[in-house]
Amino acid sequence: MNALSPTAPKPAHVSDAVVYDFDMFLDPGLLADPHERARELVSEAPPVFWTPRNGGHWMLTGFKENYDASRDTETFSSVLVPPEMIEMARPMLPPDFGHIPLPTPINMDPPQHTIYRAPLQGVFSPRAMMARREEIRELANSLIDDVVEQGHCDFIASVAEPLPVKVFLKMLGLPLDRLSEFRVLVHEFLAPSSSQIDPVLRMRKVADAMKGDIEARRTDPRDDLLSLLWKTEIDGKPMTFELMEDFGVLLFIAGLDTVINGMGYGIRHLARNPDFQARLRDNPKLIVEAAEEILRRYTFTVPTRRVTRDVEFAGQQMKENDRIMLFLPGADLDPREFANPEVYDMERENNVHIAFGVGPHRCLGSHLARIELQVIYEQMLARLPEFRLDPEQPARFRGGNILAMEALPIRWD
Ligand code: HEM
Repeated sequence: MNALSPTAPKPAHVSDAVVYDFDMFLDPGLLADPHERARELVSEAPPVFWTPRNGGHWMLTGFKENYDASRDTETFSSVLVPPEMIEMARPMLPPDFGHIPLPTPINMDPPQHTIYRAPLQGVFSPRAMMARREEIRELANSLIDDVVEQGHCDFIASVAEPLPVKVFLKMLGLPLDRLSEFRVLVHEFLAPSSSQIDPVLRMRKVADAMKGDIEARRTDPRDDLLSLLWKTEIDGKPMTFELMEDFGVLLFIAGLDTVINGMGYGIRHLARNPDFQARLRDNPKLIVEAAEEILRRYTFTVPTRRVTRDVEFAGQQMKENDRIMLFLPGADLDPREFANPEVYDMERENNVHIAFGVGPHRCLGSHLARIELQVIYEQMLARLPEFRLDPEQPARFRGGNILAMEALPIRWD
């Protein structure tokens, strides 16, 4: 087992009553079963608590607290490191490094955020995404083809991880034969950082992988997202190459490690519940609602915010530059919001979850994500007989800003 991060001293403004020891990366319970641990946190720790791990930070686990903080962007900022400070890293970078790509607009606050989000809004509209449904089904089937005869697979490595990468390549207009190159980039991107400039180097590498295609689509537009983005304007001004790189990097980060885990939790739930598989096989129309309740029951993203001013929030004193984690997996398991939240119940009265976040940063890719999730459940149920968890190889998880699934071995007869 890895050693937990060292503990930071408790600042004077944090009251003793809300200190709870939780390492969001390496908590053993979280790594054993993320949502069991999320439930435990919600019932055991205050809905706003401070942990001394990982430098010391706040954790918001209640629904209302996450909802309110996500919408108050003046107090809880998404500008975690100001751009001037990022530029200060330049002396540590190679001389020909070029533009430092920043995942735009997830790193901004309104009103700037509103301006930079606008061009992406139309590109990811429900209609535009719906038009891709059958293309996504084909990609999903091609991956299932590779495993269907073998009676077992690691669902993450064989299907959940390559599918969003293929969708990403296809949407951006990059050739599908670059799949393995982009899968390597995903792995490198997700590996633990060994230095502070690692994230900058990795984002540059992702931007470099797209550079040629971004350049080519400027003068030779096609029917893809890069060409569409080149045509958009930012606040009345033409698109720039640097911003194309920024958008590309964000879509890479936001679109890949998310859907992988959504699919993983969904297939795990199905593998553990053969009767439920049978119900959905008999009535595939139920898959839309089934996928939605999976998103609530197994919410997995944990966005970060920076406190911009000294403030009292949910009865706690917070100071400028404190960090808070929006622990959305807890919010969607909060009994104050959802009756019997641990129960998977497709017919529940209130199913308005915040798996895609809430407020101005609410997920831009939610329509695409929903299609990818529904299609993979449809095709796995249609193409495979009843599948189950592999009793000899348990699922493996990773903590952090995404409660990620690293492996999900399943079997079928
Ligand atoms: C099940 C899959 C997904 C989940 C659970 C998810 C969740 C989220 C959440 C919680 C946020 C808000 C982050 C914050 O408040 O800081 C977000 C933002 C975002 N997501 Fe997703 N996401 C998923 C899939 C996708 C996909 C497939 C794409 C597109 C390629 C995408 C693109 C984005 C973008 C661009 C943002 C930033 C929006 C902004 O800052 O205005 N997401 N996502």
